[in-house]
Amino acid sequence: MGTDEFVSSFKYAFISLAAAVGLYATLLGLLTTSTFQSHVVYLHAVQLTWFKDLNVPEIFGFLKNQVTPFSIKTPDDEQLYAWQVLPIELYRKNELALTAEPTGFVSDIASRLSFQLLRDDPEARLIIHMHGAAGTLASGYRVPNYRALSAGHPGKIHVLAFDYRGFGRSTGLPSESGLIQDALAVTNWAINVAGIPSSRIVIFGQSMGTAASIAVSHHFAVQSPPTIFAGTVLVAPFVNVPTVVSSYRVAGILPVLSPLARFPALFNYLLGFIRDKWATNERIAQFVRSNEINEEKYRLTMIHAEDDRYIPSHHTQLLFWHAVNGSVPVGITYDELEERKAESQVGLGAAGTVMEWRTDYGVIREEILKNGLHEVVMGYPVVTMAVMRHFEAADPSFAR
Ligand SMILES: *[C@@H]1O[C@H](CO)[C@@H](O)[C@H](O)[C@H]1NC(C)=O
Repeated sequence: MGTDEFVSSFKYAFISLAAAVGLYATLLGLLTTSTFQSHVVYLHAVQLTWFKDLNVPEIFGFLKNQVTPFSIKTPDDEQLYAWQVLPIELYRKNELALTAEPTGFVSDIASRLSFQLLRDDPEARLIIHMHGAAGTLASGYRVPNYRALSAGHPGKIHVLAFDYRGFGRSTGLPSESGLIQDALAVTNWAINVAGIPSSRIVIFGQSMGTAASIAVSHHFAVQSPPTIFAGTVLVAPFVNVPTVVSSYRVAGILPVLSPLARFPALFNYLLGFIRDKWATNERIAQFVRSNEINEEKYRLTMIHAEDDRYIPSHHTQLLFWHAVNGSVPVGITYDELEERKAESQVGLGAAGTVMEWRTDYGVIREEILKNGLHEVVMGYPVVTMAVMRHFEAADPSFAR
């Protein structure tokens, strides 16, 4: 290689490096703006069900009128698009009457048989479903998820799914306070309009939905008098957003912020720009603590697969610790809890491990699966079991 060639290839390498650094810096700059950030955190523009009409749930594999599309209004006037999903055995018993009804979006849900079957059955149970980032209530593994949720008692367990503001057909733009308002509005609808008492409701969330689920469970637990649900089930939860982005890799490969971890001042400076922090670690501890103080019975299950590439299962171990710590008046360190786990954690071989922490009032359960990725796990029988365990604990006659 001649000197000129050397100089020009060096120049070329330098220019590419400068361009890469410039691009990275631009990306970081964009990330500090709240609009771009909300697109990255919520991915609400990534619909995944493009060109498919959510008002025709049959497209996604449901039976005719098994799903009733309708909307729920929030106190700040957003319209949330929702689905009431009938469990299969209840559908079978009412098949003729259901198929005879009109199809499509319903403006007065009280006029529909599906709603009456929920409202008028004193034994009906309801799952309030809070989905993860991106997509709509019809995308990905959410449909098999609805089946798993009601599989334990397919004559009784209804599912209420919805899209947060800014997602799918719902109005508005997402934000932490907005999504919490949405989750509260849907829960209030279930209690006040459908008339289902909280003891017959399980709050379910996956990924980003776990943060909304805990926010709702916490919100109701700290009211006076408190409202306690039959249980809260979290699949693939995370400690908080700053902890996720610190280790987040785009497509599981490209690190976003972790290269900067070597520069703590810059790193923390950038983390300071995160608008919606979703501090589940704090909310979960406060949820547990207030239930212990109020002597309310509560149940919480966290499920996480070891091969989850988006949110490592370590997040569940940390949250389990925060929750358990909330139940111990003097607190417990992470390492102390690890020692207790070594004594009483149940090994299930290839199915993973289970650790249950019981107090006089509550049950906090951690299930670490070997397999299930970030989303596939939603359709697994562990989800069915978690739901049944909570409903049975809230009312032992349910599982007989
Ligand atoms: C654990 O609980 C104790 C006692 O309530 C509290 O002082 C401590 O801050 C908690 N630790 C964490 C990490 O939240």
